Amino acid sequence: MTTALITGATAGIGAAFGRRLAADGHNLVLVARDTKRLREQATELHDRHGIEAEVLTADLATEGGIESVEKRLADPRNPVDLLVNNAGFGNKGRYLEVSMADELTMLKVHCEAVLRLTSAAAASMRERGRGGVVNVASVAAFVPRGTYGASKAWVVQFTQGAAKDLAGSGVRLMALCPGFVRTEFHQRAGMGTDNIPSWMWLDADKVVATALADLARGKQVSIPDARYKTLLGAAKLVPRNLLGGITSKTGRKYGPQ
Ligand SMILES: NC(=O)c1ccc[n+]([C@@H]2O[C@H](COP(=O)([O-])OP(=O)(O)OC[C@H]3O[C@@H](n4cnc5c(N)ncnc54)[C@H](OP(=O)(O)O)[C@@H]3O)[C@@H](O)[C@H]2O)c1
Repeated sequence: MTTALITGATAGIGAAFGRRLAADGHNLVLVARDTKRLREQATELHDRHGIEAEVLTADLATEGGIESVEKRLADPRNPVDLLVNNAGFGNKGRYLEVSMADELTMLKVHCEAVLRLTSAAAASMRERGRGGVVNVASVAAFVPRGTYGASKAWVVQFTQGAAKDLAGSGVRLMALCPGFVRTEFHQRAGMGTDNIPSWMWLDADKVVATALADLARGKQVSIPDARYKTLLGAAKLVPRNLLGGITSKTGRKYGPQ
């Protein structure tokens, strides 16, 4: 039996990782801010699948929250074999409409926490000669799209660079880049979703199934679903300044994904 630590495990993509990994027989460490929700989920996964599910309440926008998860990842007595850096959120509004405090919180959760937790986990995994890290980015990483897209672009670049440096160590790192997924994300950010065409929506459980299959294949970047692979392929053919205009308008209409 192996242990997986999932950040943002109470909802959406993180909860889907929890369901799938528990069903596959992995013990879990569930991380998020809402302790009550974490406990309910841990109990349900334990009762349904017979696995052990620890609860670790942590706000990854704070120093103390990041530190507590780093400490858990570095604990040699209870090693973590798979880290899923998934916690994240969107801010409603264009550049200069979002407060500086909210922009900085996003960088803390999407970049600093991902850097520090990946490093804590990878150092310990490298010593053991095995392990995996999935960093949840977004297709927004590949188009000009404000701080959200920039933070996810950082996640992709960082993960690919770290994966290259750790090649041959037994530690696999992969950036996961989904398109629109039905979760609590847009509602939490106060973004409307009525205008998003139904064909653009992905199912969180299917995103996770693709992610884990791609990790097993040794991919460094996973883009779930042929629809988004095609869209991103087409985007490469569009000049970058034109793409900036298109995605900025699309972003206003649909919100970041
Ligand atoms: N939904 C999409 O369309 C989409 C597309 C591409 C990528 N993504 C990415 O996928 C990841 C998961 O998003 P989701 O769609 O599943 O969103 P979600 O349903 O809103 O879930 C977000 C999770 O993150 C946790 N979280 C948020 N801020 C946190 C913080 N400061 N510290 C610790 N935990 C925190 C939340 O729990 P608590 O509130 O209890 O802390 C929750 O469990 C994010 O990184 C997002 O950027 C989403």
